[in-house]
Amino acid sequence: MNTIRTILITGGAGFIGSHVVRRFVGRYPEYLIVNADKLTYAGNLENLTDIEKKNNYRFEKIDIVEKQSVLDLFEKYNFDGIIHLAAESHVDRSITGPDEFVFTNIVGTVNLLNAALKKWKDAFRGKLFYHISTDEVYGSLGKDGLFTEKTAYDPKSPYSASKASSDHMVRAYNHTFGVPAIISNCSNNYGPNQFPEKLIPLAINNIKNNKPIPVYGKGENIRDWLYVEDHVAAIDLIFHKGKTGETYNIGGNNEWKNLDLILLLCRIMDKKLNREEGTSEKLITYVKDRPGHDMRYAIDSSKLQKELGWSPIPDFADGLEKTVEWYLINTRWLERVLSGDYNKYYDLMYSHR
Ligand code: NAD
Ligand code: DAU
Repeated sequence: MNTIRTILITGGAGFIGSHVVRRFVGRYPEYLIVNADKLTYAGNLENLTDIEKKNNYRFEKIDIVEKQSVLDLFEKYNFDGIIHLAAESHVDRSITGPDEFVFTNIVGTVNLLNAALKKWKDAFRGKLFYHISTDEVYGSLGKDGLFTEKTAYDPKSPYSASKASSDHMVRAYNHTFGVPAIISNCSNNYGPNQFPEKLIPLAINNIKNNKPIPVYGKGENIRDWLYVEDHVAAIDLIFHKGKTGETYNIGGNNEWKNLDLILLLCRIMDKKLNREEGTSEKLITYVKDRPGHDMRYAIDSSKLQKELGWSPIPDFADGLEKTVEWYLINTRWLERVLSGDYNKYYDLMYSHR
């Protein structure tokens, strides 16, 4: 193998990270792709069985909160680039237990920045620390307006506050120490391999099993949905063509009220499951609202579109249908995630290595 770049992808066993790893391993055989992941409840190596034997792929089980493990990883490999996705990512969990969000999202990011600075400080040329962040750092919108790259940070949940904090640290290391860095802030992703605690896969699973679909509050909150492969295409573009020191917003231009989204999902599921139209929506159940629930997110991604030529696939119903099909076909994936059996996969694959 003629390796021209060694790229660290953190959180590569998670939802978005696994799609990033697959794309980079497949498209760039001349890169060595190192996936570093702690394998928390959200990390699942079964997301990557199709590429795990490729010779430009390595997996390293590490916790980015452990400073020494991060330093050791940076000694083992000479990374040219880092795409940092590892994070605690679920808002509801950040409300019941904020500490892990502080450790992983803030301390873990700083550990990676310190390790990159230590290794790169004499020659920053050709190096890049690319930090994957969220639109939630901008807070909540009213009826009108969009988040731009210039919108002031106003995070409202422990999750978004921890991500905002990590964004600030990345910018500070870029400004103060010269670490070449880029940040992108993306809206809600959906698609295959998303852990069924997030709205869309949770609803698909509940509809399939005739269980209530929990809708927080009145279902009026609005999110801007983006198919995961569109996000990953943007990440690829920004990693290769983005300007150091810049921020790029990524969004689907696809705003949906939660209730309308659930109704669309119910219609798709009725068709796929050969149920009479209107059957699944009877499962909709209004439950207590999320504390501090942000009302509306919507992204202006015109900078990314104009400067780098990115655009999302426009048809949401299509993306949602593909997602539903994936969950209905991959029943074993879903069962193993729900039962916790996927946790055993690491021991099976790696304990003898
Ligand atoms: P996810 O929860 O599915 O995956 C997170 C991954 O990080 C898992 O594989 C987990 O094992 C790993 N991880 C967690 N703590 C770790 C630690 N201490 N050390 C090493 N690895 C650890 O998350 P996701 O939805 O794929 O999100 C990935 C990134 O994208 C996150 O940074 C998130 O903030 C950001 N993001 C997500 C969305 C979205 O809609 N899901 C939107 C915008 C931005
Ligand atoms: O905007 C980007 C963010 O999107 C990412 O940074 C986060 O990592 C990701 O989890 C997501 O955050 P949300 O809180 O928007 O996603 P979630 O799927 O948890 O919820 C979507 C909306 O649906 C939100 O308004 C809350 C609501 N909801 C959620 C669940 C799980 C329900 O009504 N019922 C539910 O059971």
